[in-house]
Amino acid sequence: MLLEIENISVQYKNIDGNNIAAKDVSITVEKGQSIGLLGESGSGKSTVANAVLGFVPYFQGKISFNDVDISTFCKKDRKLFCQAVQPIFQDPFNSLNSSMRVEQVISEVLRVIKGIKDKKEVSNRVIDLLETVGLAEDCLKKYPHELSGGQCQRVGIARALAVEPKLIIADEPVSALDVSVQAQILNLLKDLQKRFDLSFLFIAHDLAVVQYMCETIHVMKDGEIIETGDAFSLLNNPQQNYTKQLVNAIPTL
Ligand SMILES: Nc1ncnc2c1ncn2[C@@H]1O[C@H](COP(=O)(O)OP(=O)(O)OP(=O)(O)O)[C@@H](O)[C@H]1O
Ligand SMILES: [Mg+2]
Repeated sequence: MLLEIENISVQYKNIDGNNIAAKDVSITVEKGQSIGLLGESGSGKSTVANAVLGFVPYFQGKISFNDVDISTFCKKDRKLFCQAVQPIFQDPFNSLNSSMRVEQVISEVLRVIKGIKDKKEVSNRVIDLLETVGLAEDCLKKYPHELSGGQCQRVGIARALAVEPKLIIADEPVSALDVSVQAQILNLLKDLQKRFDLSFLFIAHDLAVVQYMCETIHVMKDGEIIETGDAFSLLNNPQQNYTKQLVNAIPTL
């Protein structure tokens, strides 16, 4: 199994006491699979993603990558894991360093993380990656504020691909984009999945989006997975009232 999340629970302390952000969450992602995590704001989706990405300082339960418990990783294993699992974030503009041109954003990853020393090789790779995500060469010299939201997200995707990941954790990657741009980015991610044999943990609050992207969908509410199903059965035969509400909220054309 590529990723196995077993019964993870996360509690945050705040002024009102303990807030259970995730409770007993179990999710598996096999190689090449795209698994969806769906739920309203505050249901715990990012908490689960963040636990995998190492952004949650303490959680109960176990997360394994390629059947190895990530808490047992040595420094070298952790480094490889951080390359194999790449995030794509909701806010495409703020996920990029505003003082770096597109060229720098991607070439830095190639030099520092991939360890490519040869300047020509780096610049060829940068151009290849931009082409792969559908950006023209004239984006190279631009800063994030000179790009559209969709273009920024494409740069974020290129940066993730630069590390040659196995698993992409996409946390609401299209929520901040216009509907027409959302479809383009989703199509791009689908194409990349096939081309590079990627796996996805795909987070969204919009059932239509996860249905388009994922074969299996987990529905989260109040920190817990309350229903799991394939896209077709969730749409046509939702079991929980909450899932029924999500289905009814899909606009009909
Ligand atoms: N770092 C943190 N410190 C304290 N509480 C947190 C922290 N991160 C998340 N929470 C709380 O945990 C709960 C789950 O939050 P989380 O961000 O996982 O939800 P989400 O499903 O991703 O929501 P959204 O769709 O708005 O992104 C919320 O009640 C949130 O306030
Ligand atoms: Mg979130």
